[in-house]
Amino acid sequence: MTSFDEQRLRLSGKVAFVSGGGKGIGRTICLQLAALGACVALTGSRDMEAVRDTAAAIGARGGKAIALPMDLADRPAVDAAVAEAVKRFGRLDIVVNNAGASRRGRLLDLSSEDWSHVFAIQTLGFFHLAVAGARQMIAGGNGGAIVAIAGASALRCYPGNGAYGPSKAAVLSAVRQMAVEWAPHGIRVNSVLPGPVRPDDVDWQSAEPALAEEVLRIPLRRAATPLEVAEAVAYLVTAGYVTGQDIVVDGGSTTTWYIN
Ligand SMILES: NC(=O)c1ccc[n+]([C@@H]2O[C@H](COP(=O)([O-])OP(=O)(O)OC[C@H]3O[C@@H](n4cnc5c(N)ncnc54)[C@H](OP(=O)(O)O)[C@@H]3O)[C@@H](O)[C@H]2O)c1
Repeated sequence: MTSFDEQRLRLSGKVAFVSGGGKGIGRTICLQLAALGACVALTGSRDMEAVRDTAAAIGARGGKAIALPMDLADRPAVDAAVAEAVKRFGRLDIVVNNAGASRRGRLLDLSSEDWSHVFAIQTLGFFHLAVAGARQMIAGGNGGAIVAIAGASALRCYPGNGAYGPSKAAVLSAVRQMAVEWAPHGIRVNSVLPGPVRPDDVDWQSAEPALAEEVLRIPLRRAATPLEVAEAVAYLVTAGYVTGQDIVVDGGSTTTWYIN
């Protein structure tokens, strides 16, 4: 039987790599994995100050974290960042691909560049990071867990969302492909599909009144918090017999049509 402390720090001795850890959901995922005992390598592409701030917040709470620059669309840069994490922490157990991108617009107006940009970060970038992580996990011989932050937009569309939903839907299929190919190495691959996510300690509703109205029609009548997404990630990285699955964290949105 494990002690309460062992359960609380169930990622003790593990190393996690999280893309886009400087802000939003990614920052909360990093803090949550560190709170469970993992050492965390986190990345940013344009805002390294935010990434360093998350690493410092983890350090201030007694955890270990390093901040690394990485553009998900640049495969050598992804390989180098993952290799640097392994060099600094000695192993790799968990990869969370959190970083994302969107370019809104109706399909009739969308340029090839807009479409390609979103796929380059969300779909190709996930392939780059998952493969780099899996190679390190296979070399380490301890298996591992990979989690993609996709989105409920992979399942449901609305006008003007461009390539965002299609690129997330491709991630779900890639997750299953990876889960099947890497299962013999003890690597599990899953995804989390959030609906709208907003912090519950700031007044985002004033800045986004339309979304504030929309979330009231979700069965649970609110947006998810970043912590609720991070908790689903934490579940998946420790759920030893779960692979190739999607966990939808959307307050029930995808179960219904319209609600008053
Ligand atoms: N927020 C929501 O309501 C919601 C709902 C469903 C799904 N999601 C998904 O959840 C994830 C996080 O969303 P969020 O809203 O918290 O994030 P966000 O504020 O949109 O930030 C995106 C993150 O991705 C990083 N990033 C952007 N381009 C990159 C690139 N080329 N290479 C590497 N990193 C890059 C950014 O880092 P830099 O700033 O340093 O570039 C940033 O940390 C995304 O995958 C998003 O699609 C979000």
